[in-house]
Amino acid sequence: MTFAATAEVIRYLGADPVFVDVCPQTALMTPESVQVAIDENSDIKACMPVHFGGLPCDMEGLHKICDPQGIRIIDDAAHAFPAAIDDRPIGTWADASCFSFYANKTLTTGEGGMIITDDDDIAAHARIMRLHGMNRDAWGRFTVETAKWEYDLVAPGYKYNMPDIAAALGLAQFPEADKHCAARTRIANRYGAELGDLEAIQLCQTRDGTTHAWHLFWLVLQANCGIDRNSAIDHLQQRGISCSVHYKPLHRMTYWAERLNLKPDDFPGAESIWQGCFSLPIFPCLNDSEQSFVIDEIKALIG
Ligand SMILES: Cc1ncc(COP(=O)(O)O)c(C=O)c1O
Repeated sequence: MTFAATAEVIRYLGADPVFVDVCPQTALMTPESVQVAIDENSDIKACMPVHFGGLPCDMEGLHKICDPQGIRIIDDAAHAFPAAIDDRPIGTWADASCFSFYANKTLTTGEGGMIITDDDDIAAHARIMRLHGMNRDAWGRFTVETAKWEYDLVAPGYKYNMPDIAAALGLAQFPEADKHCAARTRIANRYGAELGDLEAIQLCQTRDGTTHAWHLFWLVLQANCGIDRNSAIDHLQQRGISCSVHYKPLHRMTYWAERLNLKPDDFPGAESIWQGCFSLPIFPCLNDSEQSFVIDEIKALIG
């Protein structure tokens, strides 16, 4: 249960992902499913947990399994700014953490993202690879006295640098992050309180001891509730409420299904979410009366 990016980057490097199933209540990778994948694949090099919707995975449990095998952890923290486990932020639990600042994220620079690592080698390599494999970026070149023009190419790099203008947008939002997260949390708690008792839906669960970034608030429409997911989304759209689906799982995407010979039955946890899941509006400036409208419309549809 993730977006295209988590898996495609593995193919860029000539490797193949091994997909694991997720917990049907949280949509998170579990240490148990990772253990099964490791038992079945002796050449796994890295583990890439996705903090789905902003809810942190069990990082301690994953480290217990991965560390003894020398498997590095690179977490997909695209949804997880600012999330934490026991008050320790996501970004400090893995060898490298990858955040997204795409337009719909909890902090946005329009496009772009951030890698956090405390590994000097990873940091140095990322700095070089983000800009064509150049050993000195423009700032580095023009802050030296001589031969300002000179750089060397030490690797076949990418063009993955964040423009300074976008970075300025992001820096201005950092001081607001906790306030925005608190607003999202309030909205999520209200959805939970007002929709939690409806039999027709299963709400996403949280995990004790974690700070949820609430990038997404998702729910699963139960099979026997009288309306299917797509019709529910269409109906809400007609009432002016935009919902989306996160996600059609990667194992159902043609490229991955064909390349890795994947079958829906191999992923019962993800399937049980996917069939009925959709995400409700959640953003810091969603006000009380707008949220009341959303809640009332959902109750009228399936209550
Ligand atoms: C789970 C997940 N991982 C990775 C990404 C990729 O982020 P970006 O678009 O900033 O490259 C996204 C983007 O939506 C995402 O949802």
